[in-house]
Amino acid sequence: MQKIRSSEITPEHVYLSRRRFMRLGALALGSTALTACGGQLGETLAGRPAPAAPTKPADAAADTLGIRRDEFGDPANSFETISTYNNYYEFTEDKEGVAKLAANFKAEPWKVTVGGLVSNPRTYDIDDLRRKFDQEERIYRLRCVEGWSMVIPWIGFPLHKLLAEVQPKAEAKYVRFESLLDPNQYPNQRPLSLYPWPYTEGLRLDEAMHDLTLMVTGLYGKPLPNSNGAPLRLAVPWKYGFKSIKAIVKIELTAEQPKTLWNTLAPHEYGFYSNVNPQRPHPRWSQATERRIGESGRRPTLMFNGYADRVAGLYAGMDLQANY
Ligand code: MTE
Repeated sequence: MQKIRSSEITPEHVYLSRRRFMRLGALALGSTALTACGGQLGETLAGRPAPAAPTKPADAAADTLGIRRDEFGDPANSFETISTYNNYYEFTEDKEGVAKLAANFKAEPWKVTVGGLVSNPRTYDIDDLRRKFDQEERIYRLRCVEGWSMVIPWIGFPLHKLLAEVQPKAEAKYVRFESLLDPNQYPNQRPLSLYPWPYTEGLRLDEAMHDLTLMVTGLYGKPLPNSNGAPLRLAVPWKYGFKSIKAIVKIELTAEQPKTLWNTLAPHEYGFYSNVNPQRPHPRWSQATERRIGESGRRPTLMFNGYADRVAGLYAGMDLQANY
């Protein structure tokens, strides 16, 4: 397992026991107005072109108002924005239509199987995962391949803790993730759909073991909204957002690089690695800049979405400009 440097841990991380997690949830529920208000103020404050260091007084105000910030000092988007502007193709291609269609999604009970090339295959209930692994807050940027981004205060636990339990075998080189297949719940999984459902994704084992790679169970201290992939999704903040697969039901360790939905649909547009790289344009648009939701104008996109110091080493010797 990769050794964790203290710089790899989000400064504002908090380790939460289940009880504290629930208390935090109650607190967040009781202060919805405050959160929304914080989000609005945050979005106004965010109207600057590049990440800037926070000033002391702004920080103090932010703390009082409950605004979360990433390590560059940029405020998190509001709960409202994060949960109502979504990519979730099983429901619809309309980002603003997901939340409504997902309102009655049945995210509990939920089981996740973890198997393949492991010594200790397991099936977990979502509650087992919440109880078993300390839930911590990580404030990550999410950069969609389409050229927009958000700052999201996720709650979850590092994937490496789960992998340590199932014990990958020496032959395991990749991790494959699979989302729910349920045409009764997902209108876009109807017969003759153009998509090769279920949604699948994959990581190289060392990427999966990296401490930044998070299994997400909530955001803003609350359980994960249906529109964001309840009850369990991935967050891989240095890669384009489509790698962060939602509604995970299966995790499998494999020897071969797994097929992924977007790479299967359009291999020249969506590579397996898909690390955020402002210098490598998508075949149909530039990736040099992005629109931070809530800001006016565009800001420069950062190499590895601003996580280069922590993850660049994973790709030593690889040609970062190649189409992967
Ligand atoms: N996972 C599933 N199962 N289905 C999807 O359509 N969309 C991906 C990713 N995970 C998607 C998915 C894309 S393109 C993005 S940008 C992010 O989820 C969006 O996450 P968010 O809606 O929580 O912001």
